[in-house]
Amino acid sequence: MDFATIWQRLQSYEIGGFWPESIFLLPEDAIADIYEFVASHQLHWGLELGCGFGTTSCVMAAAVAANGGGKVVACDRQLYESVNPYRLQEHTQVGDTLEVAIEPLGYNWYLADLIAKQTQDNICTPIFDFCFLDGAHQWETDGLAFALVAKLLKPGGWIVFDDLNFVLRGCIPNWREEFGHLSDRELDTPQVEMVYELLVKQHPDFTDFAITHGGRMGWARKRESSQISATEQQVKHLQNSITQLQAELLHQQAMIAAMKSSKFWRLRSSWLKMKKFLHLPTTEEMV
Ligand SMILES: C[S@@+](CC[C@H](N)C(=O)[O-])C[C@H]1O[C@@H](n2cnc3c(N)ncnc32)[C@H](O)[C@@H]1O
Repeated sequence: MDFATIWQRLQSYEIGGFWPESIFLLPEDAIADIYEFVASHQLHWGLELGCGFGTTSCVMAAAVAANGGGKVVACDRQLYESVNPYRLQEHTQVGDTLEVAIEPLGYNWYLADLIAKQTQDNICTPIFDFCFLDGAHQWETDGLAFALVAKLLKPGGWIVFDDLNFVLRGCIPNWREEFGHLSDRELDTPQVEMVYELLVKQHPDFTDFAITHGGRMGWARKRESSQISATEQQVKHLQNSITQLQAELLHQQAMIAAMKSSKFWRLRSSWLKMKKFLHLPTTEEMV
């Protein structure tokens, strides 16, 4: 399905009731760019964490369908009555390219189950080509979400963060009800930016960082496996060198200890003491 079609179908959705005012929580250019990104990179397996009404998930599912097939998992902890991913799936006819995953405990529990399912012999087989994260906007939740997604992204896969520059204070009209118990620091810190700057950009397996849409969206790509194994090789090489140096150090220390306990060393020490007593220059002083 091309972008014009999915966009037109989403726009024609009639919200039953007074809330929400709109199903579009991202500006049109950002939604169009996400579609274009999935289409141009020929991505097939996607995930949205914090899918809300399901608008962006439907757009990504349409792009995946246009790429020839795959799936987008739309994950949230709740289903809104008047508009939700199931309703938009039916309305837009994106079909089973969209899969809805509602986990009341939150997406990190969904991801934990998925990692467990994908794990054999302590190795997690990655499944996603891309992930769009637009959920809690909180350091602890989304820091963990990134760590979990990193395991599930295929080498070369992408993660996109919405709302890098977003703070919880004032984010919704009733923000006090939902976030009023938080500290000023939590309310006023752009926590998604914290995740992006402190975890994503410093993660050895991620590269190709870009911030777009006026500082709103952050992009990163998981390195190809050959690049990851090159980095792993370097780390292993450094670890080997450290182990060798430690072994060498232990050997030298043992040798010094043995020398110090030898008859020769004791004789040398006595001789030095004697020289000192007689006020003769010691070897150390002559040097
Ligand atoms: C800004 S809305 C998402 C908008 C949506 N991404 C879009 O593009 O239309 C944030 C959503 O994240 C969900 N959310 C927040 N924390 C979550 C968590 N820990 N687990 C699952 N969903 C979460 C909320 O329920 C809400 O629906």
